[in-house]
Amino acid sequence: MPRWHSVPYICRMSVHSESRPESVSSGSKELPAIQVADLAKRFGSIDAVRGVSFDVKPGELFAFLGPNGAGKTTTINMLCTLARPSAGGASVAGFDIVRQAQQVRQRIGLVFQNYTLDPQLTAEENLRFHAVLYRVPRSEVPARMERVLKLVDLLDRQNSRVATFSGGMIRRLEIARALLHTPQILFLDEPTVGLDPQTRSRMWHDVLQMREEDVTIFLTTHYLDEAENADRIAIMDHGEIVACDTPTALKAMVGADAVDLVTADDTVAQESLLRCGYDTHVTADGLRVYVPDGARAVSGLVASVDVELQQLRVHRPTLDDVFMHFTGREIRDDGGGLTAQEQQVRTVTTSQR
Ligand SMILES: Nc1ncnc2c1ncn2[C@@H]1O[C@H](COP(=O)(O)OP(=O)(O)OP(=O)(O)O)[C@@H](O)[C@H]1O
Ligand SMILES: [Mg+2]
Repeated sequence: MPRWHSVPYICRMSVHSESRPESVSSGSKELPAIQVADLAKRFGSIDAVRGVSFDVKPGELFAFLGPNGAGKTTTINMLCTLARPSAGGASVAGFDIVRQAQQVRQRIGLVFQNYTLDPQLTAEENLRFHAVLYRVPRSEVPARMERVLKLVDLLDRQNSRVATFSGGMIRRLEIARALLHTPQILFLDEPTVGLDPQTRSRMWHDVLQMREEDVTIFLTTHYLDEAENADRIAIMDHGEIVACDTPTALKAMVGADAVDLVTADDTVAQESLLRCGYDTHVTADGLRVYVPDGARAVSGLVASVDVELQQLRVHRPTLDDVFMHFTGREIRDDGGGLTAQEQQVRTVTTSQR
């Protein structure tokens, strides 16, 4: 079932503006689209975002990659003026997110992590509502609506009630809505979470197509394969950015090949590998060892494992390896962002139930 947002959309994103978004100068191409300096957010005793700094260039597809609770949504909420920073600051489209919140809102589109369309209205009615909210000139609404609905391939469903849409269709309509007022920067918070692989791939087709429209895209994801599509990725963990670069450069930082092992007893195997000095980590599927040259290391690894070896696979570093390199654990859904030790504890507790 879709997760509908509990806070009315109009309360969260209303834009009170004397001027139309498109009538405002789009600013210099040289200036970063987003500039963030030491941005932090504290909720009581929780440091959700711990002083992050980064820039996003105009036209860039920039991804925030991180496990549950990393602070991705909190950062987006601050950049979209929905949450006030506890410290630090940021500018979006050249405007300060606190002092010039209205100017920021005029220039951004946002797809929330939770669904915010009205299920009782048709696709067209939802878009018209948004057009009023953003003061899109009435004469321009039909053409813009057709353009965005075509972009997400929903033109033939414009008169259907959203309650009859699949999760993927709702997400695509939300993207269309976010583009209706021609924002300079589009924020997508987990645009594909909960969608089946085919719909995810369709969504990505739409996202990549938006780049043709000269829109800067800032998205969050915890899917490693999706982050690969980004020009640059900021890896976030526990409210901090642990690395930020292109996918290729991030993988080069690992500086090692990964060897995945499945054994008859991974605990014993890990102990023997650690004793032999191998950089060994527990994964959801077995063990992973990082070595400078995977092919050359295989015979040594086989000799070092004291138990029956059931599988061995050598591969070049992936973004998962990058995450492990910087945090010491996997970003896997099933891991829930837990450390290897925490995962072991969880496994033990679960098996004791
Ligand atoms: N309004 C709030 N009040 C208290 N704590 C909050 C609030 N919003 C977020 N947090 C906490 O801040 C931390 C970061 O949450 P956030 O939603 O930003 O993570 P996320 O990276 O978006 O996670 P997910 O992948 O699950 O969406 C979490 O510990 C969360 O419980
Ligand atoms: Mg989130």
